[in-house]
Amino acid sequence: MGAGKAVSLLALVLLFALQTTPASADKKLYVIFFSPFPAFPNALLATITSDLTILPYDLRAISGIAVQIDQGFLPLLRQLPGVIAVVPDTLYKPLTTHSWDFLGLASNGQITPAWASARLGVDTIIGAIDTGVWPESLSFQNDTMPNAPLGWCGPCEKGNDTTFQCNRKLIGARFFSEGMKASGALGDGGTPPPSQADLSSPRDYVGHGSHTLSTAGGSLVPGASVLGHHGRGVAAGGSPGARVAAYKACYGPGCSGVDILAAIVAAVADGVHVLSLSLGAPPADYLTDLTALGAFFAVQSGVTVVCAAGNSGPQPSTATNLAPWILTVGASTMDRDFPANVSFNGDTIQGQSLADSTLPIGQPYPIISGGKANAANQPTGNSSLCLPSSLDPAKVKGKIVVCVRGVNARAEKGFVVKQAGGVGMVLCNDASTGDTVVADAHVLAAAHCSYSQCVRLFNYLQSTNDPLGYINATDASFGVKPAPKIAAFSSRGPNAITPQILKPDITAPGVSVIAAYSGAVSPTELPFDDRRVPYNIMSGTSMSCPHVAGIVGLLKTKYPAWSPAMIKSAIMTTANTTANDGNPIQDETGAVATPFGYGSGHVDPVKALDPGLVYDTTLLDYTNFLCSLKPTQNPLPSLPVDLLPLLGNLSQPLVGLLLPLFDAAGEPCKCSKGPYGRPEDLNYPSIAVPCLSGSATVKRRLKNVGAPGKYRVKVTEPAGIKVTVVPSELYFGVGEEKEFTVKMDVDVNAPAANNDYVFGSVVWSDAAAYASDVSKAHRVRSPVVVKTKCG
Ligand SMILES: *[C@@H]1O[C@H](CO)[C@@H](O)[C@H](O)[C@H]1NC(C)=O
Ligand SMILES: *[C@@H]1O[C@H](CO)[C@@H](O)[C@H](O)[C@H]1NC(C)=O
Ligand SMILES: *[C@@H]1O[C@H](CO)[C@@H](O)[C@H](O)[C@H]1NC(C)=O
Ligand SMILES: *[C@@H]1O[C@H](CO)[C@@H](O)[C@H](O)[C@H]1NC(C)=O
Ligand SMILES: *[C@@H]1O[C@H](CO)[C@@H](O)[C@H](O)[C@H]1NC(C)=O
Ligand SMILES: *[C@@H]1O[C@H](CO)[C@@H](O)[C@H](O)[C@H]1NC(C)=O
Ligand SMILES: *[C@@H]1O[C@H](CO)[C@@H](O)[C@H](O)[C@H]1NC(C)=O
Repeated sequence: MGAGKAVSLLALVLLFALQTTPASADKKLYVIFFSPFPAFPNALLATITSDLTILPYDLRAISGIAVQIDQGFLPLLRQLPGVIAVVPDTLYKPLTTHSWDFLGLASNGQITPAWASARLGVDTIIGAIDTGVWPESLSFQNDTMPNAPLGWCGPCEKGNDTTFQCNRKLIGARFFSEGMKASGALGDGGTPPPSQADLSSPRDYVGHGSHTLSTAGGSLVPGASVLGHHGRGVAAGGSPGARVAAYKACYGPGCSGVDILAAIVAAVADGVHVLSLSLGAPPADYLTDLTALGAFFAVQSGVTVVCAAGNSGPQPSTATNLAPWILTVGASTMDRDFPANVSFNGDTIQGQSLADSTLPIGQPYPIISGGKANAANQPTGNSSLCLPSSLDPAKVKGKIVVCVRGVNARAEKGFVVKQAGGVGMVLCNDASTGDTVVADAHVLAAAHCSYSQCVRLFNYLQSTNDPLGYINATDASFGVKPAPKIAAFSSRGPNAITPQILKPDITAPGVSVIAAYSGAVSPTELPFDDRRVPYNIMSGTSMSCPHVAGIVGLLKTKYPAWSPAMIKSAIMTTANTTANDGNPIQDETGAVATPFGYGSGHVDPVKALDPGLVYDTTLLDYTNFLCSLKPTQNPLPSLPVDLLPLLGNLSQPLVGLLLPLFDAAGEPCKCSKGPYGRPEDLNYPSIAVPCLSGSATVKRRLKNVGAPGKYRVKVTEPAGIKVTVVPSELYFGVGEEKEFTVKMDVDVNAPAANNDYVFGSVVWSDAAAYASDVSKAHRVRSPVVVKTKCG
């Protein structure tokens, strides 16, 4: 295998031996897809111009080539023989000690029988495409493991970092920086550009990649905590027995889509089973989204792809990574928090903080709002946010300063207060960030409080000339209710590209998650903070995504033959929509959350390991889905004109080129041969009908993965919609697959208010067979979301 690899690398060097010219300002990065792949791509491209650079990535597995070229050449490029699409690069952004207890896999840090039944993910290989890895972290060590599993052929690239070493736990590491270097995204948006060292090794200089990879597959590490005392417990990934591999394609300023695509292609060839991508760009059509295209290739190759839904909530239609072959994860809270109370005038508001408790707490100090503490020539708008140099030290010295969230980093506000001589900070949410507060490792005594609680504090500040108060912070507290709660930042549905596919798919812990960190950065990621921590607390859908990737690892170990769609279905249909107080899961405002916040619900790994039935989605199903989006039938917004014909002709389509798709008769798939049904007929574990006028019927197929038995359906109708499932009872033999239909009719006697989205569910259950112990029964639940107003 080693020798074969060497030969193909050599071939690659020759293949891409075209001369390189310095990057020009007008040049842009593209992936050119061919069908068929030309014998001499360099020569073919040279017929257009010699002034181009072919990136040294082997994308032949998906018939692609990454090229940097002046955009003026695009029309000529598209006319070259075999070129079927030219997709521009996009900049993507990278978007635990207690979470496995909260998810029921561990109990007081001890492994439960359910976790053991999946052998902690042994023999599964989890890859994360992220900012790299800190290989010395205890989360990435386990010398007692045997050699890497059979079928693994990934390298451990050190790049320029001679100290970088893989081991039996961290079995592979690679880095992809050609797109980042070529795309001109370096230092984009005020983020410092990555260092030369960062660009030339798989080492994590950001912290994000070590955090996500250890959440998915880190070893069991007792005694992990942040700053020595917060949240002390056993740190572990969801699949602590799995092997992990780091594919670095992200840097401080973001990730080039070309680097992500190259990383996916390499990870599939290396032999990973699960890919975790805690990154995203604004929603884009699936055929112009390099991550979606790469994910399709991975899923075709049997690799489950889990992605973050994005941190652009709570506004609707902000979710990203929307393709139906991706498992898309929103973020919610756990039942742990890090209390920091602010007491004033006999009142106490409750916030969160990881502030070092050696700083003065518990004694009263004068309080001032940032808005009143502005430095000369500084607008109060800036000082209320505690922007750098906006505070007047004379007004701030010895006081607790109240800063409003937004614009600059939360921890930076604390630093600004400290620099101006303040002793503490109350960080206040504005109305848009609502109730979601985050425990950060602030550099001074601090408390992050919700908008509604801060209103009380601001009222007090206005009521007196000499406001006094104190901050009292303690270590972690557990059993917080209600939990989970959808995080304000978690991106929401409906799906902006195909509203017939509900997104996100699932929610998982993503607020104040403790996991491994990089030794190269401070816990606040701010340059002035010189603290270094082996474990850090982070929040985001970046953190919830690897929780689900770790659970996928368990399913892969327990059911090695399952398709990515079966694994995804098991996770979705067993999710829970009830919080630990027995009420429906809430959002950041305290209102009942909807499937646009949590998809099918909050992940329940114990139940996912025994789902009973699954919705398997085949490659042919995906083909039909893409055909059903034919522009003539259902215009897609913002689709580049040169891609439109591809949707109408799957004999030469972008999806077809990834691996030729054939229909049941062995013919290449052509949408023109339809009918291919409608997008909502995709055999998906949830049901979304965004434009129900009168009546609609969608189809689904369920496959038995448990004991033979009879399942009965139970429907919760969305308000104003009659739902009829036919048949209402299904008998499944071993491995049998059965079809059913779900008919939805607008109830003319009780139409839904405002014609807005309404929510219900379809649940298949074999409870009748488990009368003696209903907890053993299977519940296969699909949320149903319906809107009766079209457009
Ligand atoms: C190592 O660093 C040198 C100089 O900084 C650079 O030219 C070279 O490309 C780097 N090697 C790798 C593998 O990135
Ligand atoms: C290391 O791996 C062995 C064998 O797979 C396992 O029994 C042990 O629990 C692992 N140790 C840690 C710290 O994860
Ligand atoms: C601070 O909190 C601790 C723990 O909850 C409590 O014991 C202590 O009395 C509090 N101090 C003040 C001044 O409120
Ligand atoms: C206020 O903050 C904004 C945003 O950081 C900045 O552009 C502006 O220069 C600041 N105003 C002053 C007077 O410094
Ligand atoms: C914060 O306040 C709440 C309610 O007053 C109290 O139950 C809790 O113990 C306090 N915690 C700390 C750390 O002071
Ligand atoms: C959902 O979670 C709640 C809280 O943990 C639990 O009480 C309930 O039994 C769960 N529901 C199901 C169907 O597992
Ligand atoms: C569809 O593909 C065929 C070749 O397979 C080609 O002749 C035809 O022009 C294509 N049609 C469109 C609309 O792209």
